[in-house]
Amino acid sequence: MNRIKEKFYFEDGITYLNHGSYGACPKAIFENYQQWQFKLEKQPVNFFTDELYTALKDSRIALSEFLGCYQDEILFFQNPTTAVSNIIYNLNLDSNDEILMTDHEYGALVRAWHAWSDKRNIRIKYAKIKLPLVSEDEFVRDFCKQISLKTKVIFISQITSPTGLVLPIKKIIQFAKEKNILTIVDGAHVPGHIDLNIHSLGCDFYTGALHKWLCGPKGTSFLYVHKKHQNWIKPVIYSWGKNGNDPESSEFLQDFQWQGTRDMSAFLTIPKIIEFFKSDLKDSQYHSKKLIQSSYEKFQNILESDSISIGKKFLGQMVSHPLPVNVNKNIKKILWEDYRIEIPIFEWNNMKFIRLSIHIYNDEKDIDSLMNALKSIFLN
Ligand SMILES: Cc1ncc(COP(=O)(O)O)c(C=O)c1O
Repeated sequence: MNRIKEKFYFEDGITYLNHGSYGACPKAIFENYQQWQFKLEKQPVNFFTDELYTALKDSRIALSEFLGCYQDEILFFQNPTTAVSNIIYNLNLDSNDEILMTDHEYGALVRAWHAWSDKRNIRIKYAKIKLPLVSEDEFVRDFCKQISLKTKVIFISQITSPTGLVLPIKKIIQFAKEKNILTIVDGAHVPGHIDLNIHSLGCDFYTGALHKWLCGPKGTSFLYVHKKHQNWIKPVIYSWGKNGNDPESSEFLQDFQWQGTRDMSAFLTIPKIIEFFKSDLKDSQYHSKKLIQSSYEKFQNILESDSISIGKKFLGQMVSHPLPVNVNKNIKKILWEDYRIEIPIFEWNNMKFIRLSIHIYNDEKDIDSLMNALKSIFLN
């Protein structure tokens, strides 16, 4: 096992190439997570009525510095689906309005949008992103062409899930602002993966997962809400709010932070998560991106299919590569059972993709194992 892999809990003999779905949490962060849980159990009343709020604030401060926003613009959620759903159910739109998103959005969130919009007869329009992605200008032009007077909300991923593309969304957000269209960014894959400054991006709402590329414990996600929207974004689940123990002066924070008794230890590890990013992860990013870039040509040669991004500039630490149309439907199972390789296969727009994620614990040997397995499956 390589030395960095020993900082994680991976079982022996596996090649883990799916950090994008469920990132592994290093021992240093996981131990910190457990320390918070022990702290709670030692004196639950003190913890829930007092210590918790100082610790939540420390986490908000650390995260806001990392994300480029104010500490009182951050709410913690277990995952991006719950975070975005909380905005969806506050929107006041009618059947003359439209929501615009790309055709690369995350399936669970597309479903969440439809569960709400179908009942209200609100149209969700999909802007098709032409593949291969060639230039920022073409992408922005194609997306903005779909904006009409009816468009009230844009929902867009900064890094797409099935196709693993880093989308250049800043100009779209600026354009939307001029037209008074709300922008909700799905940045589930962004923190710890590519640089992010929410204020300079300029969106209205932003969600991200800290348990993916930043390696936090599962259930560590956030929602950024621009201050101008905090008077109308209300929690889907109301609890004690300003009548509870939260000493914050912001009613917005009070309404969201206490949602009944729950384990918030994952949120409290955020200062540790960011410390780990600075001490370990940051320096590994360049190498991981280089590995991704070297693998994308290998995929092309073995799978004999074209890449969906030209020139590598839309790639981070993930690459999704099209599989042949007639690929064995058990390919994921074969890779795991015969080769001990964990890697996801996605179906998207009637195509199948294999998505490679590279993180700090991966090295060239992992790519070789994958490519050798693919060669024996596809070239025999
Ligand atoms: C682009 C994107 N958005 C949102 C999510 C939300 O994940 P969850 O199902 O944990 O809410 C994911 C998870 O992989 C994702 O890839």
